Amino acid sequence: MDLGCGPGNSTETLLACAPHAKITGIDNSGDMIAAARKRLPEVQFELADISAWRAEGPYDLILANVSLQWVPDHETLFPALVAKLAEGGQLAVQMPDNLDEPAHRLMREAAADGPWRDKLKGVERTARYRAEWYYSLLKPQCASVDVWRTTYHHPLEGGIDAIIEWFKGSALRPFLARLDAQEATAFLDRYRAGLKTACTVLEDGTVLLPFPRLFIVATR
Ligand SMILES: C[S@@+](CC[C@H](N)C(=O)[O-])C[C@H]1O[C@@H](n2cnc3c(N)ncnc32)[C@H](O)[C@@H]1O
Repeated sequence: MDLGCGPGNSTETLLACAPHAKITGIDNSGDMIAAARKRLPEVQFELADISAWRAEGPYDLILANVSLQWVPDHETLFPALVAKLAEGGQLAVQMPDNLDEPAHRLMREAAADGPWRDKLKGVERTARYRAEWYYSLLKPQCASVDVWRTTYHHPLEGGIDAIIEWFKGSALRPFLARLDAQEATAFLDRYRAGLKTACTVLEDGTVLLPFPRLFIVATR
């Protein structure tokens, strides 16, 4: 089972590992499901939301690669997913774990430090769940739980502004959505000043953006 299969990249990897398995992918984006069906016509893909996914299984493997960070209530979601596993089956999850990184912390600080403070209240997100939390949650239901964290360093060309451009498509969006053009410029100036103190720009203008990711493999 591939939860949040996107255009089928992760499903294709599953298929290569287990060519004779019965594989299903779900995603809540119609475009993604259409792309996945085109890419892997032999696999079953369904338009569905992970939160509302009620199939009982049992499954040998439930994979969720970079999708569960969008789904709320991990305290009920993760045990419910493990309950769908066959004995010896595995839940394999990978999620970004970057909310404590300076680039995110500085975003929250910029939000709290300006005339836009009230407008931006409640936008900031902090890391809710940590490795220990997942381990403690899953261990009572599982024979083994492996959790590890890897930091990828993404090389971005273009100095500090490249970091801002990178986040404009993701983490900065909810902040900028609440500001008018003038406030947005001032907010980004404040954010940029913070980044300048925290990030190293290499001689050729490259910045290595640290991107930690959390991996969990829980075996029932
Ligand atoms: C970053 S992509 C990962 C795609 C694929 N798993 C991969 O490894 O290439 C995340 C996918 O999760 C899907 N997604 C996010 N929230 C979802 C939800 N609540 N239910 C189902 N799919 C969801 C998105 O539509 C997107 O296709």
